[in-house]
Amino acid sequence: MATASTKYTKTAIILHWLIAVAIIFMFILAWFMTDLPKEAPKSASFDLFNLGFYTWHLNEEASPRSFYFNLHKSVGVTLLGLILFRVFWRLTHPAPALLKSMKVWEKKLAKGSHHAFYLAMVLLPLSGVIMATYSKYGIKWFGIPMIEGLGNDEMREVFKMIHDYMGYIMLALFALHLLGVIKHTFINKDGVLKRMTFK
Ligand code: HEM
Repeated sequence: MATASTKYTKTAIILHWLIAVAIIFMFILAWFMTDLPKEAPKSASFDLFNLGFYTWHLNEEASPRSFYFNLHKSVGVTLLGLILFRVFWRLTHPAPALLKSMKVWEKKLAKGSHHAFYLAMVLLPLSGVIMATYSKYGIKWFGIPMIEGLGNDEMREVFKMIHDYMGYIMLALFALHLLGVIKHTFINKDGVLKRMTFK
Protein backbone atom coordinates (compact mmCIF):
# COMPACT_ATOMS: atom_id res chain seq x y z
CA MET A 1 0.00 0.00 0.00
CA ALA A 2 1.37 3.41 -0.97
CA THR A 3 1.41 5.95 1.88
CA ALA A 4 1.89 9.71 1.84
CA SER A 5 5.55 10.25 2.62
CA THR A 6 5.49 14.05 2.91
CA LYS A 7 3.11 16.43 4.60
CA TYR A 8 2.11 20.06 4.34
CA THR A 9 3.79 22.50 6.78
CA LYS A 10 2.09 23.12 10.16
CA THR A 11 1.21 26.67 9.04
CA ALA A 12 -0.40 25.35 5.83
CA ILE A 13 -2.42 22.81 7.86
CA ILE A 14 -3.69 25.48 10.31
CA LEU A 15 -4.54 27.86 7.43
CA HIS A 16 -6.36 25.07 5.54
CA TRP A 17 -8.71 24.17 8.41
CA LEU A 18 -9.18 27.72 9.71
CA ILE A 19 -10.12 29.04 6.25
CA ALA A 20 -12.34 26.00 5.53
CA VAL A 21 -14.37 26.57 8.73
CA ALA A 22 -14.54 30.33 8.08
CA ILE A 23 -15.78 29.82 4.49
CA ILE A 24 -18.51 27.41 5.67
CA PHE A 25 -19.51 29.98 8.33
CA MET A 26 -19.65 32.68 5.62
CA PHE A 27 -22.03 30.58 3.48
CA ILE A 28 -24.33 29.95 6.45
CA LEU A 29 -24.21 33.67 7.28
CA ALA A 30 -24.93 34.64 3.64
CA TRP A 31 -27.97 32.37 3.32
CA PHE A 32 -29.27 33.46 6.75
CA MET A 33 -28.85 37.21 6.20
CA THR A 34 -30.38 37.39 2.70
CA ASP A 35 -33.60 35.80 4.06
CA LEU A 36 -34.02 38.52 6.70
CA PRO A 37 -36.78 41.14 6.15
CA LYS A 38 -35.73 44.65 5.06
CA GLU A 39 -37.93 46.25 7.73
CA ALA A 40 -37.52 44.98 11.31
CA PRO A 41 -37.14 46.52 14.78
CA LYS A 42 -33.63 47.60 15.72
CA SER A 43 -31.70 46.08 18.63
CA ALA A 44 -28.28 46.42 20.28
CA SER A 45 -27.84 42.70 20.98
CA PHE A 46 -28.22 39.72 18.69
CA ASP A 47 -28.47 36.04 19.57
CA LEU A 48 -26.27 34.63 16.77
CA PHE A 49 -28.45 32.68 14.29
CA ASN A 50 -31.13 32.59 17.09
CA LEU A 51 -29.47 29.46 18.48
CA GLY A 52 -29.03 30.60 22.10
CA PHE A 53 -25.30 29.91 21.70
CA TYR A 54 -23.72 33.38 21.65
CA THR A 55 -25.16 36.88 22.06
CA TRP A 56 -23.41 39.71 20.21
CA HIS A 57 -23.61 43.19 21.80
CA LEU A 58 -23.32 46.36 19.71
CA ASN A 59 -22.53 49.96 20.71
CA GLU A 60 -25.51 51.25 18.75
CA GLU A 61 -28.79 49.72 17.63
CA ALA A 62 -29.09 48.10 14.21
CA SER A 63 -31.72 46.14 12.29
CA PRO A 64 -31.06 42.36 12.13
CA ARG A 65 -30.38 42.61 8.37
CA SER A 66 -27.85 45.39 8.87
CA PHE A 67 -26.14 43.52 11.76
CA TYR A 68 -25.73 40.27 9.81
CA PHE A 69 -24.70 42.03 6.56
CA ASN A 70 -22.03 43.96 8.51
CA LEU A 71 -20.86 40.76 10.19
CA HIS A 72 -20.60 39.03 6.76
CA LYS A 73 -18.52 41.93 5.43
CA SER A 74 -16.29 42.15 8.54
CA VAL A 75 -15.53 38.42 8.69
CA GLY A 76 -15.17 38.38 4.88
CA VAL A 77 -12.56 41.15 4.83
CA THR A 78 -10.61 39.41 7.64
CA LEU A 79 -10.85 36.16 5.71
CA LEU A 80 -9.56 37.81 2.54
CA GLY A 81 -6.45 38.89 4.49
CA LEU A 82 -5.97 35.34 5.75
CA ILE A 83 -6.47 33.92 2.24
CA LEU A 84 -3.90 36.32 0.75
CA PHE A 85 -1.44 35.17 3.43
CA ARG A 86 -2.25 31.57 2.50
CA VAL A 87 -1.52 32.29 -1.17
CA PHE A 88 1.82 33.85 -0.13
CA TRP A 89 2.57 30.79 2.03
CA ARG A 90 1.72 28.37 -0.80
CA LEU A 91 3.95 30.28 -3.24
CA THR A 92 6.88 30.28 -0.81
CA HIS A 93 6.32 26.73 0.54
CA PRO A 94 5.50 24.36 -2.35
CA ALA A 95 2.98 21.58 -1.64
CA PRO A 96 4.38 18.06 -1.14
CA ALA A 97 4.46 15.97 -4.33
CA LEU A 98 1.27 14.06 -5.16
CA LEU A 99 1.26 10.32 -4.47
CA LYS A 100 3.13 8.19 -7.01
CA SER A 101 0.18 5.77 -6.97
CA MET A 102 -2.11 8.40 -8.50
CA LYS A 103 -2.98 8.10 -12.19
CA VAL A 104 -2.10 10.95 -14.57
CA TRP A 105 -5.76 12.10 -14.82
CA GLU A 106 -6.06 12.06 -11.03
CA LYS A 107 -2.96 14.23 -10.65
CA LYS A 108 -4.26 16.66 -13.29
CA LEU A 109 -7.67 16.85 -11.60
CA ALA A 110 -6.15 17.33 -8.13
CA LYS A 111 -3.74 20.07 -9.29
CA GLY A 112 -6.38 21.80 -11.44
CA SER A 113 -8.98 21.83 -8.68
CA HIS A 114 -6.46 23.09 -6.10
CA HIS A 115 -5.49 25.99 -8.39
CA ALA A 116 -9.17 26.73 -9.09
CA PHE A 117 -9.78 26.71 -5.33
CA TYR A 118 -7.11 29.38 -4.77
CA LEU A 119 -8.60 31.50 -7.55
CA ALA A 120 -12.14 31.15 -6.13
CA MET A 121 -10.89 31.82 -2.58
CA VAL A 122 -9.51 35.19 -3.72
CA LEU A 123 -12.24 36.17 -6.22
CA LEU A 124 -15.21 35.35 -3.95
CA PRO A 125 -14.33 37.78 -1.11
CA LEU A 126 -12.73 40.28 -3.51
CA SER A 127 -15.96 40.51 -5.56
CA GLY A 128 -17.79 40.99 -2.23
CA VAL A 129 -15.49 43.89 -1.29
CA ILE A 130 -16.00 45.54 -4.71
CA MET A 131 -19.78 44.98 -4.57
CA ALA A 132 -19.96 46.51 -1.07
CA THR A 133 -17.80 49.46 -2.20
CA TYR A 134 -20.23 50.19 -5.06
CA SER A 135 -23.24 49.96 -2.70
CA LYS A 136 -24.41 52.99 -0.74
CA TYR A 137 -23.37 51.35 2.56
CA GLY A 138 -19.66 50.74 1.99
CA ILE A 139 -17.70 48.61 4.46
CA LYS A 140 -17.31 48.88 8.22
CA TRP A 141 -14.87 46.45 9.81
CA PHE A 142 -16.49 45.38 13.10
CA GLY A 143 -17.92 48.89 13.48
CA ILE A 144 -14.83 50.79 12.24
CA PRO A 145 -15.52 52.72 8.99
CA MET A 146 -13.20 51.26 6.32
CA ILE A 147 -14.56 52.03 2.84
CA GLU A 148 -17.14 54.68 1.98
CA GLY A 149 -19.97 53.44 -0.26
CA LEU A 150 -20.05 54.86 -3.82
CA GLY A 151 -23.78 54.35 -4.30
CA ASN A 152 -23.45 53.02 -7.87
CA ASP A 153 -26.29 50.50 -8.24
CA GLU A 154 -25.42 49.36 -11.76
CA MET A 155 -21.85 48.35 -10.81
CA ARG A 156 -23.06 46.88 -7.52
CA GLU A 157 -25.36 44.56 -9.52
CA VAL A 158 -22.48 43.45 -11.78
CA PHE A 159 -20.30 42.48 -8.81
CA LYS A 160 -23.25 40.96 -6.95
CA MET A 161 -23.69 38.61 -9.93
CA ILE A 162 -19.95 37.78 -9.91
CA HIS A 163 -20.09 37.21 -6.11
CA ASP A 164 -23.11 34.88 -6.50
CA TYR A 165 -21.49 32.88 -9.34
CA MET A 166 -18.18 32.60 -7.45
CA GLY A 167 -20.23 31.20 -4.55
CA TYR A 168 -21.67 28.46 -6.81
CA ILE A 169 -18.19 27.70 -8.21
CA MET A 170 -16.81 27.45 -4.67
CA LEU A 171 -19.61 25.03 -3.68
CA ALA A 172 -18.93 22.87 -6.78
CA LEU A 173 -15.19 22.77 -5.99
CA PHE A 174 -15.98 21.91 -2.38
CA ALA A 175 -18.14 18.95 -3.50
CA LEU A 176 -15.35 17.71 -5.83
CA HIS A 177 -12.81 18.13 -3.01
CA LEU A 178 -14.97 16.06 -0.62
CA LEU A 179 -15.46 13.34 -3.24
CA GLY A 180 -11.67 13.17 -3.68
CA VAL A 181 -11.12 12.84 0.09
CA ILE A 182 -13.82 10.13 0.35
CA LYS A 183 -12.30 8.17 -2.58
CA HIS A 184 -8.75 8.34 -1.19
CA THR A 185 -9.85 7.50 2.36
CA PHE A 186 -12.31 4.67 1.74
CA ILE A 187 -11.44 3.25 -1.70
CA ASN A 188 -7.70 3.82 -2.22
CA LYS A 189 -6.93 3.87 1.55
CA ASP A 190 -3.68 5.70 0.73
CA GLY A 191 -3.56 8.10 3.71
CA VAL A 192 -3.91 11.31 1.67
CA LEU A 193 -5.91 13.03 4.45
CA LYS A 194 -2.94 12.56 6.86
CA ARG A 195 -0.95 15.01 4.73
CA MET A 196 -3.33 17.75 5.91
CA THR A 197 -3.63 16.74 9.61
CA PHE A 198 -1.27 16.74 12.61
CA LYS A 199 -1.53 12.95 13.07
C1 HEM B 1 -15.05 33.72 1.35
C2 HEM B 1 -15.82 34.72 1.73
C3 HEM B 1 -17.24 34.90 1.30
C4 HEM B 1 -18.21 33.97 1.04
C5 HEM B 1 -18.10 32.45 1.11
C6 HEM B 1 -19.42 34.70 0.67
C7 HEM B 1 -20.60 34.11 0.27
C8 HEM B 1 -21.72 34.80 -0.11
C9 HEM B 1 -22.89 34.21 -0.72
C10 HEM B 1 -23.07 32.73 -1.05
C11 HEM B 1 -23.78 35.21 -0.93
C12 HEM B 1 -25.13 35.09 -1.64
C13 HEM B 1 -26.29 34.88 -0.72
C14 HEM B 1 -27.56 34.74 -1.55
O1 HEM B 1 -27.89 35.67 -2.32
O2 HEM B 1 -28.18 33.69 -1.45
C15 HEM B 1 -23.21 36.45 -0.44
C16 HEM B 1 -23.84 37.67 -0.42
C17 HEM B 1 -23.22 38.86 -0.04
N1 HEM B 1 -21.90 39.03 0.28
FE1 HEM B 1 -20.54 37.56 0.50
N2 HEM B 1 -19.15 36.04 0.73
C18 HEM B 1 -17.84 36.22 1.10
C19 HEM B 1 -17.19 37.43 1.28
C20 HEM B 1 -17.77 38.68 1.23
C21 HEM B 1 -17.10 39.93 1.47
C22 HEM B 1 -15.61 40.08 1.79
C23 HEM B 1 -18.02 40.91 1.35
C24 HEM B 1 -17.87 42.40 1.49
C25 HEM B 1 -16.95 42.99 2.19
C26 HEM B 1 -19.29 40.29 1.03
C27 HEM B 1 -20.48 40.95 0.86
C28 HEM B 1 -21.68 40.37 0.54
C29 HEM B 1 -22.94 41.07 0.44
C30 HEM B 1 -23.17 42.58 0.68
C31 HEM B 1 -23.91 40.13 0.06
C32 HEM B 1 -25.41 40.37 -0.17
C33 HEM B 1 -25.71 40.81 -1.55
C34 HEM B 1 -27.15 41.21 -1.63
O3 HEM B 1 -28.03 40.33 -1.56
O4 HEM B 1 -27.39 42.40 -1.75
N3 HEM B 1 -19.10 38.92 0.96
N4 HEM B 1 -21.95 36.17 0.03
